[in-house]
Amino acid sequence: MAILKIARMGHPVLLRRAEPVADPTDPEIRRLVTDMAETMLDAGGLGLAAPQVYVPLRLFVWRNGEEVAALINPEIDLLDPPDTAGWEGCLSIPGLRANVPRSARVAFRGLDVNGGPVAGEAEGMLARIMQHENDHLDGVLYPMRMSDFTLFGFTEELARAGTVEPRA
Ligand code: NI
Repeated sequence: MAILKIARMGHPVLLRRAEPVADPTDPEIRRLVTDMAETMLDAGGLGLAAPQVYVPLRLFVWRNGEEVAALINPEIDLLDPPDTAGWEGCLSIPGLRANVPRSARVAFRGLDVNGGPVAGEAEGMLARIMQHENDHLDGVLYPMRMSDFTLFGFTEELARAGTVEPRA
């Protein structure tokens, strides 16, 4: 296991469309997922996409309670219009937060690290995380989804103003 370096906004790897994973059961992919999980937990994130660790492949991980879940070659369908406001941050945009409109519900499908199919629906924060992480696979960062730039700031200042809950 290893903690990987996280790319920050401005690095071109974050603006590229990532390629599908050819073989989800490749041990290298399993190692990448393990390292991404460790990196996300170490950094205090809720999700992490492979391009954020300089790997332009279509997979992401997220926190699922105490566990970490992974989705390889994901496809996300919005089940509601993308108009539900909510706060989000990004490990590639450290120290900042923004209020971003997203769909409240999504359907997702993809593969797990055993190559088996994964499918389901998500709502609320998990739906938001999936949209955010899936965007990374298309080279999209959350500021590109924003509609109100008055709701964009440093986490520390937003927390001081009582706009958001303080969080690492
Ligand atoms: Ni992000």
